Amino acid sequence: MEWNELREACLSCERCALSETRTNVVFGAGSADAEIMFIGEGPGEQEDKKGEPFVGRAGKLLDEMLAIIDLDRTNIYIANMVKCRPPRNRDPLTIEKDACMVWLREQTRLIRPKIIVCLGRIAAVSIIREDFKISQEHGQWTQRDGVWITALYHPAALLRDPRRRPETFDDLKAIQRKIREVCDHTYKG
Ligand code: URA
Repeated sequence: MEWNELREACLSCERCALSETRTNVVFGAGSADAEIMFIGEGPGEQEDKKGEPFVGRAGKLLDEMLAIIDLDRTNIYIANMVKCRPPRNRDPLTIEKDACMVWLREQTRLIRPKIIVCLGRIAAVSIIREDFKISQEHGQWTQRDGVWITALYHPAALLRDPRRRPETFDDLKAIQRKIREVCDHTYKG
């Protein structure tokens, strides 16, 4: 499947019950040629309304985090583990994450990122390791099939607990170093 075909198919997905309560599918945003992919948990209320990832308060903080390392929404790709909002923002269920994984897998196959950044525990346990501990292992790197993977605290967690921000700043700087090491595009700064 090519990108547009994938997007169209995803926008009419009914693979799980979240399709019954969603307003919009949040496929993702950014460049399909990106070398860096950020993966969050799932849409919240604002994202469901707009059909765009990270447009609420957490999204504003994510934009600030990206700006620290000279990234923005045009030179990365942002996706979520689940493309439809779980009711009342509950954690996505395993059955929902499993049903939705086909889309993320195809997005990753087509984008072929050099770096994947998991935003928060939910993405990290699905993508890095089932027993991943975000408080102990954020900022650590693993390599799989030639792709470098790391995790940051979720921006919503940083809004709830600003004491975690200095560690996240260090993790962002490490991402910037990794970009310089493995990416071909130039990012200003
Ligand atoms: N939180 C997420 O994990 N993803 C979004 O798109 C918005 C908030």
